[in-house]
Amino acid sequence: MAQAKVRLAVCGGEKTCSIEWPTWPIWDDRERQGLMAVLESGQWWYGERVHEFEAAFAAFQTARYGVTATSGTTALEATLTALGIGQGDEVIVPPYTFVATASAVLRVGAVPIFADIQPHTLCIDPDDVLSKVTPRTRAVIPVHLAGYVADMDRLGEIAAALDINIIEDACHSWGSQWKGKGTGALGRCGVFSFQASKNITSAEGGIMLTDDEQVAEDCRSFTNVGRRKGGAWYQHFNVGSNLRMTEFQAALLLAQLSRLEEHTLRRQANAEIILQGLRTIPGVIPIENDPRITRRGYHLLPIRLDLNRLGISRDRFVEALSAEGVPASPGYTTPLYRNPMFERISTDPHSRPYLGDVVDYRQVSCPVCEQVCNDTWWFFHTLLLADSSAMEVIVDAVQKVCQNVDQLRER
Ligand SMILES: Cc1ncc(COP(=O)(O)O)c(C=O)c1O
Repeated sequence: MAQAKVRLAVCGGEKTCSIEWPTWPIWDDRERQGLMAVLESGQWWYGERVHEFEAAFAAFQTARYGVTATSGTTALEATLTALGIGQGDEVIVPPYTFVATASAVLRVGAVPIFADIQPHTLCIDPDDVLSKVTPRTRAVIPVHLAGYVADMDRLGEIAAALDINIIEDACHSWGSQWKGKGTGALGRCGVFSFQASKNITSAEGGIMLTDDEQVAEDCRSFTNVGRRKGGAWYQHFNVGSNLRMTEFQAALLLAQLSRLEEHTLRRQANAEIILQGLRTIPGVIPIENDPRITRRGYHLLPIRLDLNRLGISRDRFVEALSAEGVPASPGYTTPLYRNPMFERISTDPHSRPYLGDVVDYRQVSCPVCEQVCNDTWWFFHTLLLADSSAMEVIVDAVQKVCQNVDQLRER
């Protein structure tokens, strides 16, 4: 453990470590051979590899059907469209997430309604969801933030009682399981991203999973310019778009999928070491796993700070920790509804054809999210792929910053 009262690196002291952290993406001959096979086959367009990947990834997450798209964002839009959600409908979303969770709702003409998050999970609060339901509510989109799984038991009860859809935003949760079942297979549909920073990547890409064959077909039709199985090439049954994935992306994803299980288990074991170490450090509040999360695919490891106790800002803490040689990120620093886009659609009648008088986002307040945006920081999943001995070093660095926090107050 770090010695108490040493100079922090950010104040001119020695760094805790000079570890070369794993970089991302990780790839080897599997990717190389997969790409070369596609190249040499001349079959570059949306074909058998895409469908092989859809089936393999759906099975990995314990879902029946998978429909790929060009990104997590467009997969969300396709899913909402396939469920017939649009003009005048309301969809409940959390504000502690990436913009796509809410912008996809706006893109299909529906209205995102924000429900707060829970302070101990950082995922949507089912009680607040319940309080936001109106006769116009068609869906709720829980985000399995950082690979943590939102309370799917309670959300499932609410959705069943009120006949609303659950669309899981599983764009951080490849490999996560709730009571043995994979994310993306817990609600009506679930959406994943394969963007460059994600735990399995083809630079860009996304997928929608579901157990509902009809929803899968409707989603497929939307992603493939409105075509339908059995229809003629130039027969378009729906107003669709072109969200097709290429065979190159599928070759990359099949290779990446082959190491996802091993990577997931390694990240999980390493995160446990960090969490164990952090529990004993005053001023640090780890996010403890719900026992119903039987496997957690860490995209991020978010940690909260007791700012009153430490007497510094989260950003100062992150700066000091990063200076110790342990890269940390402040994560989402504002609730989504404070983004300029929401102010704009609340005030400019031309940019809010869909909202009517339903919501003025300037009036929205989710106090837990606002607090979390101030006091939470993240480690990226790549750190969790380092050797397990490096996890003790991470804990040492956090401890060093906390024990010497007075140096940060002085400056
Ligand atoms: C929670 C969440 N939802 C949706 C998305 C959208 O995914 P993509 O970048 O593939 O469009 C992301 C991407 O970062 C995300 O983090």
